[in-house]
Amino acid sequence: MARKNSNFISARESRRISKENAKITRKLDKQLSRKHVPESEYMTTMHDSGNVVEFDDLHTCFFTDVGTVKAVDGVSFNIPVGKTVGVVGESGCGKSVTSLSLMQLLQRPTGQIVSGEIRLNLGDKAYDVTKMPIRAMEKIRGNVVSMIFQEPMTSLNPVFRIGFQLDEIIKLHNHELSDEEVKARSVEAIKMVGIPDAEGIYNRYPHELSGGMRQRIVIAMALVCNPRLIIADEPTTALDVTIQAQILKLMNDLKRTTGAAIIFITHDLGVINEMADDVAVMYCGQVVEQAPAEVIFQNCENSHPYTEGLMLSIPRLEIESDRLEPIPGTVPHPLALPKGCKFGPRCKYCTQKCMEQEPELKKISENQMIRCFYPNKEERTSAEHQKITVNH
Ligand SMILES: Nc1ncnc2c1ncn2[C@@H]1O[C@H](COP(=O)(O)OP(=O)(O)O)[C@@H](O)[C@H]1O
Ligand code: SF4
Ligand SMILES: [Mg+2]
Repeated sequence: MARKNSNFISARESRRISKENAKITRKLDKQLSRKHVPESEYMTTMHDSGNVVEFDDLHTCFFTDVGTVKAVDGVSFNIPVGKTVGVVGESGCGKSVTSLSLMQLLQRPTGQIVSGEIRLNLGDKAYDVTKMPIRAMEKIRGNVVSMIFQEPMTSLNPVFRIGFQLDEIIKLHNHELSDEEVKARSVEAIKMVGIPDAEGIYNRYPHELSGGMRQRIVIAMALVCNPRLIIADEPTTALDVTIQAQILKLMNDLKRTTGAAIIFITHDLGVINEMADDVAVMYCGQVVEQAPAEVIFQNCENSHPYTEGLMLSIPRLEIESDRLEPIPGTVPHPLALPKGCKFGPRCKYCTQKCMEQEPELKKISENQMIRCFYPNKEERTSAEHQKITVNH
């Protein structure tokens, strides 16, 4: 009996799950690995041509031996051309998996997009990334969309010189360029990210550079093919605070000069405040609030309690307070999500209804969407609000 109520999974059960998983993932993998797929199969139309990407009800799962992890559970948001969209939330909320889905860089075969669309605007046409075969995606990756990871050494190969690595990316997408032209473009990219002695750096190895310099090189690698979109996944988290500020400034400057849109992923709302035009707040694989940055930071009348919690846990000059208020508890395990609102067990405004029903993402005003039964701050703090005590 005790076993039945616990998270215990027998070896037999695990074998059964893994057999079922293999069946599902094999089918999805086969679809992705097809050769000679006509473009018409993954062509689509943007709902708004002013967007470079439209995530539409995206579901991405990891088919593990202990169960299916719904890492991204119905995510929808848009990235307008030339804008920075900040994606924020605690660790494990599905921020990276959302962006890895767009790049088709999920850890396969366990990680798979199971439904939804990711519409990518290429200017003259649009593709649905979820339907693109691997080969077609290879032409897009690094060229139309590129990615900057948290740890620069994930993107740099320690045994090759910086110049060689930059040249390789340019050659991959620009077969027509001569060796001299390729080198000139690499050196130009190194200059663009504010590194003096670009020619010298071109001949160096990654280990000869500091952490901040390496991250600048990774940014240069992301920019070198003039992408329409750059995904920056916690690009400053591994850096010292002073270097962090320099990299953020550099990215803001580059956004202005290159016109590329940016998805800026971070757990830090303070960084979002510096960078983003629009914000998507994620919790347990879902978007719980979406609004322009000024709405999120303006202390307006509506907000999601999770966003409110994130705001209270960062130091802010305009709010006089002796202590920061952390959000109680932790993000639930993806295989043991609570019933009703997923934020319920940590929410100070949780009611009986929240424990039983799951709220939908609803339009609250012209430019704000919130997934909460009680988005209005005044109402949920009033005496009439029937909150219940939740154990943290
Ligand atoms: N390779 C994987 N296998 C199984 N689960 C994974 C894998 N990668 C991520 N996940 C799960 O997906 C969820 C979202 O992860 P992630 O997108 O990396 O979070 P974030 O970037 O917001 O910190 C987490 O619950 C994580 O445990
Ligand atoms: S629906 Fe209820 S539990 Fe969920 S965030 Fe809103 S108030 Fe909190
Ligand atoms: Mg992450």
